[in-house]
Amino acid sequence: MTTTQSTGGALTADELKADLTLEQLKELVGLVDYDASADVFPVTAMDAVCFVVGNATQTATFYQLALGMELEAYRGPETGTRDSKSYVLRSGSARFVFTGGVTPDSPVLEHHRRHGDGVVDLPLEVPDVDRCIDHARSAGARILEEPHDVTDEHGTVRTAAIATYGETRHTLVDRSRYAGPYLPGYVARATTVARREAALDPTRPKRLFQAVDHCVGNVELGHMDEWVTFYNKVMGFTNMAEFIGDDIATDYSALMSKVVASGNHRVKFPLNEPAVAKKKSQIDEYLEFYAGAGCQHIALATNDILRSVDILRDNGIEFLDTPDSYYDDPELRARIGAVRVPIEELKKRKILVDRDEDGYLLQIFTKPMGDRPTVFFEFIERHGSLGFGKGNFKALFEAIEREQDARGNL
Ligand SMILES: [Fe+2]
Repeated sequence: MTTTQSTGGALTADELKADLTLEQLKELVGLVDYDASADVFPVTAMDAVCFVVGNATQTATFYQLALGMELEAYRGPETGTRDSKSYVLRSGSARFVFTGGVTPDSPVLEHHRRHGDGVVDLPLEVPDVDRCIDHARSAGARILEEPHDVTDEHGTVRTAAIATYGETRHTLVDRSRYAGPYLPGYVARATTVARREAALDPTRPKRLFQAVDHCVGNVELGHMDEWVTFYNKVMGFTNMAEFIGDDIATDYSALMSKVVASGNHRVKFPLNEPAVAKKKSQIDEYLEFYAGAGCQHIALATNDILRSVDILRDNGIEFLDTPDSYYDDPELRARIGAVRVPIEELKKRKILVDRDEDGYLLQIFTKPMGDRPTVFFEFIERHGSLGFGKGNFKALFEAIEREQDARGNL
């Protein structure tokens, strides 16, 4: 008999702070119960998503204005960090950290010159940093930072870091003895942006997203299974059912994909590798412009994707287009069945639908957020489905091909 442990069944401090209930969270990100006592690398949740960007000051303002995030903490020259500035923003339980270089010799600028705007760290909140590092070391992980305490007047954080694909890392954070705004060295900083949409219509939800649903990594051709094994062995993550193999991928999307997840599914990492196809793979394009493996997209969970997309579009966020034929396809209509809104409402907003045996999901992808064709966001509204939109690969790319065919271009 499986016992349900508190790790899977309790809210994290960040989730409590965001006024999320466990039921909401189960629906939002597909949380499951699991037996934490057998976990070799217990993970509570994603702690943050850390980006390096060309201009953290303006990026922080942009994410407040366009994505409705709240500024929460800051560190920079004024607080004793000479060579960089970091802004900490929040929406629900999702925390983003944007860092930019200040001094000309800052290593942050060197990283940015190579990779452009991108994700450098996917920190994980863990209850026991030392236990995780002991296990990671025995499983062959590269330890970038040994476990150590960092302290300021708000308390102590125990932290360490391990390397993952490319130049990306997983910092491990135990903040159970810490009450500060983010990490030692950061000071609280409140948002100065007035919410235009809240002033116009107080019934609109304050947040455009409530949590991080999953973070996708792009790795080099032939390396996907290696990284799946890495997460299996080092973090005890299990493989989720969703698997995009070359049967679907080579004809349409030119990628192969597998998904690993932490015990309670709060942390989900799909891993892509390019597939050889008729055209250049979208993953190859990423690897070329990011100069190696890295984080491709962050999926953000929302409980009202229609309103979020309307507001995000008004705020200037651009989404990938979906051809009308996707919605008019009788096969798709039969496959997705009834969803909570008329399909015309989805068509108007170019929102995609996928259904599996557990339920359905609504999703949409933004265009790349920076100058390079690299990192982008997904917005996702789950209704029981624990998938990632596999059904949309074939449907979407077939729809595009039908349009090409109608123009005589196939
Ligand atoms: Fe995704």
